[in-house]
Amino acid sequence: MKRIKAIYPGSFDPPTNGHLDLIERGSKIFDELVVAILRNPEKDPLFSVADRRKMLEAMITTAGFDNVSVDTFDGLTVDYALRLDAQAILRGIRAISDYEYELQMALMNRKLQPALETVFMMPAEKYSYLSSRLVREVAQLGGSIDCLVPELVAQKVREKMDVAHKFANGNDLAGKSRSKKKKA
Ligand code: PNS
Repeated sequence: MKRIKAIYPGSFDPPTNGHLDLIERGSKIFDELVVAILRNPEKDPLFSVADRRKMLEAMITTAGFDNVSVDTFDGLTVDYALRLDAQAILRGIRAISDYEYELQMALMNRKLQPALETVFMMPAEKYSYLSSRLVREVAQLGGSIDCLVPELVAQKVREKMDVAHKFANGNDLAGKSRSKKKKA
């Protein structure tokens, strides 16, 4: 019997409950699902690829998805999918606003590699407004992200924000002591 392997490519910076919802849905319809983190040197991410990989692996282990693994890749998604012998690319569509970009990407991927199929799935409605970008923004501005990401991710984001705040305050203190010295 033919086994269907799919990749779920993305940035996952950080992984959210919406990603986890989609991974669960994908794990139910594909025999094997590889969550593939893009190594993108042009982006300035909040988390390193290694951190994102650890968070996704922990989420998958906690949820008990035994046909899901995590990997990283660079270059074209279609080339990576072929190297893995995958037949499908899984992507999530939350709202109509996602559709145009996702359609463009799916059609370009089909042009590049007609044998690969893009499969769109919708996360639960309660995650339809959720994105990694908004999670980063809410956390940076001091809002709660507790219901938006798994607890282990929330913890990591909080740690990042603490370091960033300490760094910013440290710089402020350094600035204040410099200006005091100037006045003296
Ligand atoms: O989570 P994201 O940032 O929406 O994921 C976008 C991603 C990684 C799927 C997309 O940028 C991608 O496939 N990049 C790899 C390079 C590539 O194949 N580009 C052509 C896409 S048509």
